[in-house]
Amino acid sequence: MKKAKIAVLVSGGGTNLQALIDAEKSGVIQSGEIVAVIASNEGAYALTRAEQAGIATFVASRRALGSQEAFEDAILAAIQKTGAELIVLAGFMSILRESFTKRFPRRILNVHPALIPSFCGKGFYGLRVHEAALAYGVKVTGATVHFVNEIPDGGEIILQKAVEIKEGDTPEILQRRVMEEAEWKILPAATELVCREILSN
Ligand code: GAR
Repeated sequence: MKKAKIAVLVSGGGTNLQALIDAEKSGVIQSGEIVAVIASNEGAYALTRAEQAGIATFVASRRALGSQEAFEDAILAAIQKTGAELIVLAGFMSILRESFTKRFPRRILNVHPALIPSFCGKGFYGLRVHEAALAYGVKVTGATVHFVNEIPDGGEIILQKAVEIKEGDTPEILQRRVMEEAEWKILPAATELVCREILSN
């Protein structure tokens, strides 16, 4: 069966990447295959996860390359080399410029650790999102998978899942619950949905 080729962009620990790898193995993702993992820094543990799964890895470091343009060109080169048709941002901590995102309409996904439009946009990433949710005092948070366009966290929503906030939560405890109950489920599910759409075209 033909599969859509997926490039996963990462910056850190890569638990969402791991969820995608596991979903491909278990058949939750059956319409796509991960052909590349591209990290924004060479120390990302996500690279080890990719190597262990036998997936081609690439590093594109903005700092080492010296400019946003060179950084995005390096990402593009890896995508073109592997023939990836879908780009999944899985804990990717850089904002891609419009000149990049407009090349891939409805072909870039991102997972955000809150219920968009809450706690999102520039400056809201990683643990900061959970710190903001706890500081505000919301009782429910969650995760969102959306298409990426020129507005940070502003593209069309594909899937969302709510997660309860509990008394005594720290940002770290909440982050873990949002990952386990929401991100690791809806990211693979949304990836499968978009891969099916790609294959049907
Ligand atoms: C995840 O919670 C992801 O949603 C978030 O960073 C974490 C990465 O963890 N992404 C963002 O905040 C992007 N704006 P991981 O490397 O273990 O997947």
